[in-house]
Amino acid sequence: MSRTAQLEQAAAGELPRLRQIEPRDARAVLDAFDDDAMRRQGTINSMEEAENWIGFMGDRGERLALAIDLGGSMIGTVVVSSIDHDNETGWFWYWMHRDHRGNGWMSRAAVTLADHALTLMLLHRLELGHRANNPASGGVARAAGFVLEGVEREKFLVDGERIDVLTYSRLATDPWPETPRLPLDL
Ligand SMILES: CC(C)(COP(=O)(O)OP(=O)(O)OC[C@H]1O[C@@H](n2cnc3c(N)ncnc32)[C@H](O)[C@@H]1OP(=O)(O)O)[C@@H](O)C(=O)NCCC(=O)NCCS
Repeated sequence: MSRTAQLEQAAAGELPRLRQIEPRDARAVLDAFDDDAMRRQGTINSMEEAENWIGFMGDRGERLALAIDLGGSMIGTVVVSSIDHDNETGWFWYWMHRDHRGNGWMSRAAVTLADHALTLMLLHRLELGHRANNPASGGVARAAGFVLEGVEREKFLVDGERIDVLTYSRLATDPWPETPRLPLDL
């Protein structure tokens, strides 16, 4: 589906759904990484790199990486990685394509996967961290039921500036947020 058709679909109130990431998502991944705001997510400059990223994400042993799908195309991802079955923990992260930010969809995708991880995947604690100068990421975390735990002071050096990282967690026993969920097809 073309980007214009996607945006029309969004305007018409169509909701994304969550599904597994597939090889056909490579072009969408390559396009998503063509964005300064994605620099901290890594570098993907070619279809080969996008395909490698998808292959890596698809290894479900220690992670579950989902595509946020709008009209058959991937517009973002939400991931539980570094799953530690002994301690029942996982690391939580996400990104949304620049054209689809600000719709509340990332919050909805995050709460949907967090619920799944803390129930069917039998994890007890999900952890995430975001740069203090990335407030939208904090908005997503709170909407997904994560609770602020602390500040890792001056953790990152970005363009010569030291940046704090805010750390959050959500426990299986925490209250479930009211953020609406998205359909999850696994
Ligand atoms: C972080 C990111 C995923 C947020 O996506 P999004 O589509 O804006 O998310 P949502 O629409 O669900 O909005 C999230 C919340 O942040 C808030 N928000 C958005 N931009 C904001 C800003 N500049 N300042 C403060 N709050 C902001 C929204 O209002 C919303 O809060 P609310 O639910 O209380 O209204 C997106 O900006 C992104 O992909 N950035 C690049 C990759 C990245 O930084 N990933 C996170 C790494 S930790």
